Amino acid sequence: MSSGGSPPLSTSPAAERNKQPIADVLARVLPPAGLVLEIASGTGQHAEHFARAFPSLTWQPSEPDAEALAPLTERVRRAALPNLRAPLELDVHEPPLLRSTVAAVICINMIHIAPWWACAALLLHAERWLAPGAPLVLYGPFKRGGKHTAPSNAAFDAQLRARDPEWGVRDLDDVVALARRHSLELAEVVAMPANNFSVVLRRQ
Ligand SMILES: C[S@@+](CC[C@H](N)C(=O)[O-])C[C@H]1O[C@@H](n2cnc3c(N)ncnc32)[C@H](O)[C@@H]1O
Repeated sequence: MSSGGSPPLSTSPAAERNKQPIADVLARVLPPAGLVLEIASGTGQHAEHFARAFPSLTWQPSEPDAEALAPLTERVRRAALPNLRAPLELDVHEPPLLRSTVAAVICINMIHIAPWWACAALLLHAERWLAPGAPLVLYGPFKRGGKHTAPSNAAFDAQLRARDPEWGVRDLDDVVALARRHSLELAEVVAMPANNFSVVLRRQ
């Protein structure tokens, strides 16, 4: 929401489209209260939307990138929500220490737009961050059984790999197998609009 006279906040059309469908999944899988850590918050549209939608949860957005952190911080400042914290500078490869476990971790559209090691690092740290039973929710496109689930995802994957050979749409089986090694068990896979999935893993 813009406040009079301030420059407009940068927005992602995809985040605008997917924020409510993701919120519908979160409404079922998140605990009623506690701290939710969002990895790779980007513009902060999700953090703001979810903080408004779930006032009994506290939202902690984060970003690794100083350039993205400034507009994210500005969005959070303008939102002025009591349950939306100032963003953390957080790269999954070298995250800051958290003072306590968290009630949930969410990560939207990151693991395919980063090398596989970013997904591995996320799973490694999620094991430490999450309280027993707490969910890690991933959102994005995934291959299933080694195959793309739609031609548009195959085309998107090719675009990503052309931009960086280490990027690419992940196979859900690979993610789930590695997650299991970090005490995270697959709880639910929800088909989402535009050939995406919400993937719910729970800390054992
Ligand atoms: C496509 S954007 C998605 C942003 C936002 N979640 C959304 O859906 O609009 C990918 C995000 O992944 C973040 N990212 C990339 N590598 C990362 C890392 N190693 N640790 C944390 N975030 C990372 C980028 O800074 C960027 O914000």
